[in-house]
This record gives sequence, C-alpha cells and structure tokens, in this order.
Amino acid sequence: MKTLIHLDSSLRGEESNSRILSSAFAKSWQSKFPDGKIIYRDLAKNPIGHLTSEAVQASYKPVEQRTPADIAALKPLHDAVDELMSADHILIAAPMYNFTVPSSIKAWVDHIVVDGRTFSFGANGPEGYVKGKKVFIISSHGGSYTPDSPWAAMNMLTPWLRNILGFLGMTDVESISIEGADFAKDQVAQQMNASREKITQLVAEL
Ligand SMILES: Cc1cc2nc3c(=O)[nH]c(=O)nc-3n(C[C@H](O)[C@H](O)[C@H](O)COP(=O)(O)O)c2cc1C
Repeated sequence: MKTLIHLDSSLRGEESNSRILSSAFAKSWQSKFPDGKIIYRDLAKNPIGHLTSEAVQASYKPVEQRTPADIAALKPLHDAVDELMSADHILIAAPMYNFTVPSSIKAWVDHIVVDGRTFSFGANGPEGYVKGKKVFIISSHGGSYTPDSPWAAMNMLTPWLRNILGFLGMTDVESISIEGADFAKDQVAQQMNASREKITQLVAEL
C-alpha cells in the first residue's frame, strides 16, 4: 500500500492556486492507488508550531541522559519524522510568501531535519537518510521567477526546498509553479490547465 503526505499551506482558502492543484493531485493519486493512504496536513489551519527551546536543548543530550520532559519535547519532531518515513510520496503545496515558503512549511521542515534520524555528519560529510521517496512541489508565485526573469535569483521557494530535501536524501523532486499569478492574471487559467495536465502525467508515471 502506498502512502502520500499532502501538505497545504496557502492562507487564501479555496481560491488558492496551490490548493486547487494539490487537491487535483491528491484526487488523481487516490484514483491511481485506491487502497493508498493520504496523510493530509493543512498547515495554515493546523500549524505544526515552531521548534521549541526545550526540543533543541534535549536534542543535544545523549539519548540515555534524556529526561521524560526531554522526550516529551522531542515528540513532535519524532512524530513528524515517523510520518515522513512512512510515506512513499510527498506533496508540498506552497504559495510564495516573501520570496520563499510560508513559515508553516518552514516549521514543518524544522521538525523533519533531525540529526541521527534524517541525516548525520560522518567522515565523508553529511548523509541524508530519507531515501526512496518521490517529492512533488506545487507553488504559486505572485510575480514571475522563470529562469530568464530578472527576478529569478529572488526565488527561494522551490530552490530552497530542493536543497533542504536533497540534504536529507530526497533527490527525486518534481516541481510545478504558477508564475505571475498576481500580475499576469490572463495567463493564470492557461497555466492552471497546463499544470493539471502535468499532474495527470506525473501521477500516471508513479
Ligand atoms: C503574505 C504574502 C506574501 C507574499 N509575498 C510574495 C513574494 O515575495 N513574491 C511574490 O511573487 N508573490 C508574493 N505574494 C503573492 C503570492 O505568492 C501569490 O498571490 C500566490 O499566487 C499565492 O498562492 P495561492 O494562490 O496558492 O495562495 C505574497 C502574498 C502574500 C499573502
């Protein structure tokens, strides 16, 4: 049985481009894997929360020295990692906020980057332990950040996600983006249709 983690994060509710497309992805995925399990997290409605000081300080202690309070503080991180490890496919839907992901996605990432569980530093440098997953990033940008745009270098959404997920071992990443959503509105419908077709194709290839 396949498992998909589906993360939404837009604060725009049902009008959101990234939500509309991630919902189309999830529907298509469920048709392809009728017995598959979807773990859905709406991080805008139910944020995972920031990393706590207690969790970070507990994480520096050797496991055998951790108190019940330390273990409790680390539980949200270990739960998020267990969930991630249980998934075959990960779908991250994100609007661009201040040139990067919404802080709710950043907080989720902060919970899955756990030394000793999802990565470690060895003699050969860092090693990611989250292998064999396929990740899909669906983003929507108010401006346009295509490679030929003068704004391209300001896109710290998908490039950042690719870097941090790759650091953890997730190197099989597909991305779809809506460009110029707030400025080239006439082209948004066309991009949404093209994205729906791309989603159908990506899910068919799974
Ligand atoms: C708080 C906030 C910050 C934003 N920052 C940016 C930005 O830095 N660059 C940009 O191109 N668009 C920015 N936008 C516009 C959104 O990226 C754009 O409306 C996008 O299509 C929203 O995605 P959604 O339809 O999935 O909600 C911002 C919007 C909001 C609400």
